[in-house]
Amino acid sequence: MTKFLNCKIDISLKVLEPRLETEYWTKKAIAMIRKIPRPAKVLDIFSGSGCIGIAVLKNTQSFLDFADISKDSLKQIKKNVKLNNIVNQRFTIIQSNIFSKIKSKYDFILANPPYVALDRIGEVDPQVLKKDPHLALFAGKDGMLIIEKFLKDVKKHLNHNGILFLEFDPLQKEKIKEILEKKKMEYVFQKDQFKKTRFVIAQNVFKGKSNN
Ligand SMILES: C[S@@+](CC[C@H](N)C(=O)[O-])C[C@H]1O[C@@H](n2cnc3c(N)ncnc32)[C@H](O)[C@@H]1O
Repeated sequence: MTKFLNCKIDISLKVLEPRLETEYWTKKAIAMIRKIPRPAKVLDIFSGSGCIGIAVLKNTQSFLDFADISKDSLKQIKKNVKLNNIVNQRFTIIQSNIFSKIKSKYDFILANPPYVALDRIGEVDPQVLKKDPHLALFAGKDGMLIIEKFLKDVKKHLNHNGILFLEFDPLQKEKIKEILEKKKMEYVFQKDQFKKTRFVIAQNVFKGKSNN
């Protein structure tokens, strides 16, 4: 059992142990979600233990979908929503390969995908390699495999002016910037509490016609 913001998170079913960096930007996402004057529709994709989505549900009036490819993750989320007394009407849990089973559009998409480069496996703490599932960590040679597939379709699932929070490795900033430029999304890169560029907030700006 661990804590994530003001939530209890069980991680006994082989899911990623939530990181402090993720907690840092989730707090910022919650502050933004709370500002909109109606319950927001939110997607926690690559949800693992469900820590991000559970913190959002607990601290906002939103409705939220969890999505992950792993069965263990889906079971873990079920346990964790109960543990935090979240009522069933406010969320759904979807098994999906990135967006393959996602039909909706959202006001906010919150994403902590696997992004560790296989090239850098030697730099990963052996304890992490032993404890955390490799499906949750690695994404091809440069760690961009899942992020690239995800960004390719993300606009289709954002409402006009909808907002994306995406966590990544600081070394991936330039590649992500290039993709967001091509997608004509507005964005701002942000540092984590350890002064590393760790996440981007991007918006599907409404320019008067569909721009997916
Ligand atoms: C870095 S973990 C994030 C877990 C949690 N959101 C957190 O922040 O602690 C990435 C998650 O992505 C999931 N995942 C990996 N490949 C996926 C794919 N193709 N489609 C959907 N989820 C995937 C893994 O099962 C894992 O739970």
